[in-house]
Amino acid sequence: MLSMLLLAACVPRPQEQQEANTAQRASAVAAFGTVQQVFQHPRCQNCHIPGDAPLQFDAGIPHAMNIVRGPEGKGARGFACVSCHGEANSPASFGPKAPPGAPHWQLPPPEHKMAWIGLPPKQLCAAIKDRKFNGDRDLAALLKHVSEDKLVLWGWNPGGQRAPVPVAHTEFVARFSQWTAAGGPCPE
Ligand code: HEC
Ligand code: HEC
Repeated sequence: MLSMLLLAACVPRPQEQQEANTAQRASAVAAFGTVQQVFQHPRCQNCHIPGDAPLQFDAGIPHAMNIVRGPEGKGARGFACVSCHGEANSPASFGPKAPPGAPHWQLPPPEHKMAWIGLPPKQLCAAIKDRKFNGDRDLAALLKHVSEDKLVLWGWNPGGQRAPVPVAHTEFVARFSQWTAAGGPCPE
């Protein structure tokens, strides 16, 4: 009898449950603000573009030397990204204009460009989640990608005089995780 009473006291009533859901959603939408700040930082969005040439610098100007996306995102045949961009940043002795590097340096392929530069929050949120455009990733796969991917991590160690993403990576992953745990709600 006593245990049943305790149980009844612990199970949230529908209204409490709804309030809890509303609060979780609101804090997840707030957390998405941090996600947006990172995704639309130049270190990320210079590769996440609707056009066919990568961008460079904080001003996002087209990459010098007429570099293009190419059929797989790896550059034009005979002029691949990896012919200049190695697996790691160039040593400091090469000077600040040397190419930065990280494993599998390339643009997303032309079939799904994963472009989000300049999108307002609601559209950015929808684009990130759209499995037709994000490489068929569910929320768990997206969380794994932003936690581990080498091109993502490069944003915190960009080499040269490039400014790193200003939010700590652990903070960013914590906010991304909070957002996905609530089902990835989008701002209105
Ligand atoms: C050098 C280019 C480059 C940089 C810099 C880069 N990315 Fe990407 N990004 C890619 C490529 C290429 C893919 C596709 C990889 C795949 O599908 O296997 C991708 C895919 C993604 C995806 C999964 C697809 C989607 O639309 O959701 C996310 C999330 C992502 N990147 C986030 C970031 C973030 C955050 C940063 C900055 C901290 C960043 N990227 C920096 C090239 C880049
Ligand atoms: C001929 C050599 C060369 C090729 C090929 C090349 N790049 Fe670059 N890239 C550079 C150099 C050098 C820089 C650094 C310029 C600077 O900071 O002054 C650079 C910078 C960048 C940046 C700027 C990073 C930032 O945030 O400022 C991105 C993004 C980039 N390259 C992507 C690519 C991609 C994607 C490809 C293939 C489609 C590619 N590059 C092909 C030489 C090259």
